[in-house]
Amino acid sequence: MIVLVAGADGRLGRVLVPLLVASGHVVRALVRTGEHVGALEAQGATPLVADLRGDVEWAVDGCDAAIFAAGARRRTDFGAIDGGGAAKLAEAAHRFELRRFVLCSAIGAGEPERRRAPLRDFLAAKQFAERRLQQLNVPWTILRFGGLTRAPGTGRITTTVDGRRPPTISRDDAAAVLVETLSRPNLAHRLVEAIEGDRRIADALAAVEPAPLPPVRNSGLGAAQATNPPPDPTMLFPDAAPLDTDVDYQGDGPLAPEVIDNDDPSPRVP
Ligand SMILES: NC(=O)c1ccc[n+]([C@@H]2O[C@H](COP(=O)([O-])OP(=O)(O)OC[C@H]3O[C@@H](n4cnc5c(N)ncnc54)[C@H](OP(=O)(O)O)[C@@H]3O)[C@@H](O)[C@H]2O)c1
Repeated sequence: MIVLVAGADGRLGRVLVPLLVASGHVVRALVRTGEHVGALEAQGATPLVADLRGDVEWAVDGCDAAIFAAGARRRTDFGAIDGGGAAKLAEAAHRFELRRFVLCSAIGAGEPERRRAPLRDFLAAKQFAERRLQQLNVPWTILRFGGLTRAPGTGRITTTVDGRRPPTISRDDAAAVLVETLSRPNLAHRLVEAIEGDRRIADALAAVEPAPLPPVRNSGLGAAQATNPPPDPTMLFPDAAPLDTDVDYQGDGPLAPEVIDNDDPSPRVP
């Protein structure tokens, strides 16, 4: 897949980009400044310099998938980057008909009002992006990560956040979850929480229930048949003679031989 990564030179992005390349993907690395362009090229990615607050939709054109792993550095930018920037990229993914858009969100984005600022503002921006994405028809996956840590990855997660484990996950494992998500059809249109756990990442993600199928609409032939009026009783002839199945019906029989005028139209011409 050709995969756009927004936030490619962030702390998660720096783990994610080489992992995507190693998994056989072609990576377009969206970065705000040209500072890490050389390092990204050395990793095998194609850097694209663009600011998520500005014109950035073009970066999605030609991609198969996009991953939003960017994040505001300042509290005042949460709305513009984590909220508006993610929504803008998601809308572009919808317009360019990508096969997957993956949003890095955070546990707690469902109820930001339960937290205090600045976490509340961060979660509110994530919630905005989630809601916008859920309205779009692009096959999306929302990954609500626990707090991202620098710990080495364990390769094991859980998608059940029940308070029995600390709601954290290493960036190594978060990156592996992102890569795995791209190839999992059952994660389209799904919101999944991910923290450190004891199931292999592939197994934990495979166990996520796929989205329910959309309701069957009565359309096409079915609809036409359903609206067919019942037979008109005045058009039925109960006393019509039954067909004799032993007789081959031949209609009016073969055509009578026709005499064709065969006179020479130019008798004097040799
Ligand atoms: N940190 C956590 O505990 C946590 C928890 C749950 C979810 N998440 C989400 O996981 C993702 C990765 O988190 P992280 O902590 O690894 O991120 P990070 O290190 O803070 O990196 C964020 C990246 O976003 C880029 N960015 C910021 N503003 C930008 C703009 N206007 N245009 C383009 N790029 C811009 C930054 O580039 P510059 O360096 O050039 O500004 C940086 O590369 C984020 O979406 C984050 O919200 C994080």
